[in-house]
Amino acid sequence: MEAFYKKLLDNNKEWVAKSLEKDPDFFNRLAQGQNPPILWIGCSDSRVPANEIIGAVPGEVFVHRNIANMVLHTDMSMLSVLDYAVNVLKVKHIIVCGHYGCGGVQAALTNKHIGLIDNWIRHIKDVYRFHQDELNAIEDEKAKFDRFVELNVFEQVYDLAKTSIMQTAWDREQDVHIHGWVYDVKDGLINDLKITLKDNDSLSEVYQLDL
Ligand code: CO
Repeated sequence: MEAFYKKLLDNNKEWVAKSLEKDPDFFNRLAQGQNPPILWIGCSDSRVPANEIIGAVPGEVFVHRNIANMVLHTDMSMLSVLDYAVNVLKVKHIIVCGHYGCGGVQAALTNKHIGLIDNWIRHIKDVYRFHQDELNAIEDEKAKFDRFVELNVFEQVYDLAKTSIMQTAWDREQDVHIHGWVYDVKDGLINDLKITLKDNDSLSEVYQLDL
């Protein structure tokens, strides 16, 4: 355990050396500031590292991760990341990336009491309730779980669009698109759910703010 921990700092030195070997100006350039075109909202799961699975280098992806890639409108951390990404960094694409086999989504399928996290998981259960007709009709447990993961991403994409941050950005015709993806931990491939939101027209009327 101790050896594994110590190895991390050695790995860091090795990574710095390799990066400089490839590009002597690498860190000098990054020190100037960031201008990432992408905001990534993903799961905290250790098997879904944002940059690595899409071949992005430091400086390209602004990242927010939490359990089950949730977009909760009372989450100051998520809102602050979104505000900074949209209004200061002016990212072009926001990707909500869920993943098959997500423990958070799996927990939401059960009535298990885990602890404080029950209150976080409860939001995923709302997604189940919105889509219960479709989900209850799926008999195969694995197929139901996979579809629940996809529907959760779908709802988080829309929840992002409902924020005042996205609505005001789109109202002033800022060019920023929201996408929904699901990563498969079994083969490393991303399933593009092909939902792309890019303006306020995609929102149900009840959510549209008078701007
Ligand atoms: Co997960």
